[in-house]
Amino acid sequence: MEALLEKLTKTFGPAGSEETIRAVILEETRPFADDVITDSLGNLVISRGKMDQETVLVAAHMDEIGIMVTYIEERGFLRFTNVGGVRVETLLGSRFVFRNGTTGVIGLEKQKEKKDPGFSAYYLDIGTRDGDEARQHVQIGDTACYEPSFGLQGRRVMAKSLDNRAGCAVLIATLKVLPRSLPLGVHFAFTVQEELGLRGATPLAYRLNPAYGLAVDVTRVGDTPEPEYKMSVSLGQGPAVKVKDSSVICHPTVVEKLKSTAEKQGIPYQIEVLERGGTDAGAIHLSREGVPSGVLSIPCRYIHSPGEMVDLDDMENAVLLLQSLLQEPW
Ligand code: CO
Ligand code: ZN
Repeated sequence: MEALLEKLTKTFGPAGSEETIRAVILEETRPFADDVITDSLGNLVISRGKMDQETVLVAAHMDEIGIMVTYIEERGFLRFTNVGGVRVETLLGSRFVFRNGTTGVIGLEKQKEKKDPGFSAYYLDIGTRDGDEARQHVQIGDTACYEPSFGLQGRRVMAKSLDNRAGCAVLIATLKVLPRSLPLGVHFAFTVQEELGLRGATPLAYRLNPAYGLAVDVTRVGDTPEPEYKMSVSLGQGPAVKVKDSSVICHPTVVEKLKSTAEKQGIPYQIEVLERGGTDAGAIHLSREGVPSGVLSIPCRYIHSPGEMVDLDDMENAVLLLQSLLQEPW
């Protein structure tokens, strides 16, 4: 699991630029697929079992947040916009890397007063002397993600893009241990552009027309110093069964299925209500005539920062739970 997470989090893949991460995931999953689809938007689907019966769509987004170059200054500094929910307070001093390996560090305009500088006060410095030199490395419209750095301390992993390479790792690890014969056909989908508003999952759910939907994604926790924020999910206490977030009320059938499977197998789990945030289940459950959907969440600290943190026990228990769930009749 550590090696897989390291490989996935070190890979480039801002929303809309998922080619590299898709190739890495395809290489990992192809040997375990009965069928492979890459659709027109770039979603990757690895299918298992019979597709002429009811199917379940298990989705993890493979994109990550990032920045996109909007303007190159004469002195070589790059102005940028956000791709997904990049937080202003994570910017200063952060390093970002482009697909071609060009790396830069974020600077902040000298502030006359110490008020909250908005996004537009920051720039990316790629170490070039002027705009002409900068343009040899980077074009307007190029995207960059946080520079990878992978840390392991005990059972805790620290890395960029654990949102949602942690979810991708759970799908991949499950795929590798799942038996050939399953009660339902299963589509393991690695979706694009979730961070921009569930854009990949929307047409994909329409195409696959599943009987059930399940997103696997990270969720916030309430066990860090946050005096005014109370949330009943902690790192290391098991994967979380979501009841609600801003994008979905999870269907009782799927919530119960997850809970009863965990209880039957003796897998620790937590119940989650996330007040702000959404996942691909938000798109899947509104597809066509409606698809009963739920979410299996990986507790994660510091979401949308260069140093997100998950617990390997939660990851491994999520794999156990997903693997057991997909072997249950629905
Ligand atoms: Co996210
Ligand atoms: Zn996510």
